[in-house]
Amino acid sequence: MDTQATRGEIVIDFDHVEKTFPGHRAVQDLDFSITQGEIVSVVGVTGCGKSTMFNLALGLFPPTTGVVRVQGHDPFTEFDWFRRKVAVVFQDSRLLPWRTALQNVCVGMKFAGIDKAGWETTAREWLDRLGLSGRENAYPHQLSGGQRQRVSLARAFAVDPELILCDESFSALDEITAKSLRAEFVELVRAGGKTGVVITHSIAEALSLGNRVLVMRAPGLLADDVTLPADATPEQTASLRERILAAMDPAGQVTATTGAELLAVRAMSTA
Ligand SMILES: Nc1ncnc2c1ncn2[C@@H]1O[C@H](COP(=O)(O)OP(=O)(O)OP(=O)(O)O)[C@@H](O)[C@H]1O
Ligand SMILES: [Mg+2]
Repeated sequence: MDTQATRGEIVIDFDHVEKTFPGHRAVQDLDFSITQGEIVSVVGVTGCGKSTMFNLALGLFPPTTGVVRVQGHDPFTEFDWFRRKVAVVFQDSRLLPWRTALQNVCVGMKFAGIDKAGWETTAREWLDRLGLSGRENAYPHQLSGGQRQRVSLARAFAVDPELILCDESFSALDEITAKSLRAEFVELVRAGGKTGVVITHSIAEALSLGNRVLVMRAPGLLADDVTLPADATPEQTASLRERILAAMDPAGQVTATTGAELLAVRAMSTA
């Protein structure tokens, strides 16, 4: 039976999960759960296993050891059960270049097995909610990066999933566009009673998104699990930044990729 998760129920459960690729351990003893209605950010330095964790939750491959459950089901062996229930948004919009914005949203519903009769109305509604009314017939190359990402979000929400996974979905956008899209994302997740998990390289983004930050450390370990206060003072925010930074990079070794932000945060907290 297709049971819809109710608030407080566990939606994602990783029970001591390890994922080893030939010659490489990407995730090791990853153990956490996320409950319905949460908006959780995942941070961690490059290569620490964040996308692998998503791919395990999406059922793209099974864990080497341990158990992954999404709404109580095994996403790898019960892949079909998850159609419509989980949507994913990537850093690049991954739209079909030969399809219009409207058609791209419809394709998402087609793959989700939704009845064709409702595709166009639903696609128009979501494009409208994401500020793209009037651009339905534009092809991806005729849209800006931010607009393409809006189409990608419309495609995700249009299938009415219970869980939305975003892998650096706001990272390639300028800060102003990213900020408004993040706020819209949070609003849509909350309004729809959904659960959202967002991988980001930005501690600032992680702190501004939702109610909780999972901090990962290589190889695929949970380094910290931070619950965010509803109305954090600037002092609390600064101290949470420092705590997350310390968990991500306990030896203070990172200088590249995420290094720019880590160093900026460090400079702020020592100023
Ligand atoms: N299919 C695969 N085969 C072999 N190794 C892999 C595979 N997928 C990921 N890895 C390795 O597992 C580790 C974790 O990769 P993953 O993509 O999960 O990192 P990430 O935290 O998402 O990094 P980034 O922030 O750069 O996106 C990396 O060392 C990566 O090279
Ligand atoms: Mg990744």
